[in-house]
Amino acid sequence: MNALAPLLEFLSIPSVSTDPARKEDVRRAALWLEERLKALSFRTELHETPLHPILYAERLVDEKAPTVLVYGHYDVQPPDPLELWETPPFSPVVKEGRVYARGASDDKGQLFAHVLAAEGAPVNLKFLVEGEEEIGSPHLSPFVQAHQKKLRADVVVVSDGAMFAPYTPTLTYGLRGLCYLEVRLRGARRDLHSGAFGGVAPNPIQALGWLLARLKDERTGRILIPGFYERVRPLSEEEKALWPSLDEEALKRELGVEVLPGEEGYSVLERLWARPTLDPNGVWGGYQGEGSKTVIPAEAGMKLSMRLVPDQDPEEVADQAEAYLKAVCPPGYALEVLRLHGGRPVLTDPFSPPMRLMARALEEVWGRPPVYTREGGTIPVVAELKETLGAPIVLLGLGLPDDNLHAPNEKLDLVNLEKGVAVIRRFHELLVEGGL
Ligand code: BES
Ligand code: MN
Ligand code: MN
Repeated sequence: MNALAPLLEFLSIPSVSTDPARKEDVRRAALWLEERLKALSFRTELHETPLHPILYAERLVDEKAPTVLVYGHYDVQPPDPLELWETPPFSPVVKEGRVYARGASDDKGQLFAHVLAAEGAPVNLKFLVEGEEEIGSPHLSPFVQAHQKKLRADVVVVSDGAMFAPYTPTLTYGLRGLCYLEVRLRGARRDLHSGAFGGVAPNPIQALGWLLARLKDERTGRILIPGFYERVRPLSEEEKALWPSLDEEALKRELGVEVLPGEEGYSVLERLWARPTLDPNGVWGGYQGEGSKTVIPAEAGMKLSMRLVPDQDPEEVADQAEAYLKAVCPPGYALEVLRLHGGRPVLTDPFSPPMRLMARALEEVWGRPPVYTREGGTIPVVAELKETLGAPIVLLGLGLPDDNLHAPNEKLDLVNLEKGVAVIRRFHELLVEGGL
């Protein structure tokens, strides 16, 4: 049997956590993984939550051996827009050394590297795998709190990110956090004829534009919410010196843009890894159909997300944003701010003992030492695992920046999967050899 066959089977399960119609499929993915781990002699527990189950599995081989906790997620993002996929998202195919499917990189494929490396591993292994990461991990934090003893480990390894570039072994020591809001504005009690009422009617789309314009300075790119930057940790020169250099021209070409707009005074990597952001992710209101309709809508709104860096706190930022939006909202509008989800930013020690061992494993397998990166994305539970378990964290991304995460034609390069498995196996050996 093709060694990849099980991964393709895992990828064919449409475990879209945000879609209520997929609830049974999400569960099926958890059960599939549970069977797989059982076949490797793991003792498994499926923990129900109000939504999707958490899978815990452990295989303790030697009480004197080090214990590794692997975190990952078996849920995926929705595959839309479907028409832009070259092959269907849940019919995985292997083409030119890559596997294409929703979840290939984020995170089923990366998680699967740890399952493959588990076979015959000489360390005590624990898996914590959730089905709600893509919706903000709403039920994982209480689970971690309640099962601290069970989850105890010498190191936590997470593969749910990317390498800096192809053939560039990478260790990541930081993730941004997230504060995600929905802003709703209401003017009149109902939609109005724009001729009969234009001139006296409040227009929530216009007000939304005014609000948006006051959130960020057009010239400097600075976010104007009072207090927003208060807890932002400055970046040290030593840390900057640790970073690889980014080919900005290549990035512009890849994105099809001529400029990379952002906060004045900071490099592209700083803006991606160590500075917070604010971006509207969706806006609505009024007539969206073909042709025209002369209407002043009663309602308009937007989705607004902010990426956070240490030591910003998602709840505090949500309070600040809400207070500011309410303060600058013109009279005559009802403003409502909903908190959709959040995640805390995290920084880990790039040179902790297990990070040093992983660096050795990477160098042995790839033939070159790793680069050290932070990432702009968010994995909500990582900050929690760091604080609650107190174990060092190793972020070993196996994907690539062009894996099309959350987009059509998501893929994973098989060389990264193979080398990833080899790196993880070597890491296990180094742990046992007493490196910790
Ligand atoms: N694996 C990603 C996070 C990620 C992306 C890390 C790129 C490093 C590089 C994760 O599955 C994800 O998409 N997280 C969401 C979190 C949100 C839904 C709470 C994100 O970052 O938008
Ligand atoms: Mn992920
Ligand atoms: Mn994701």
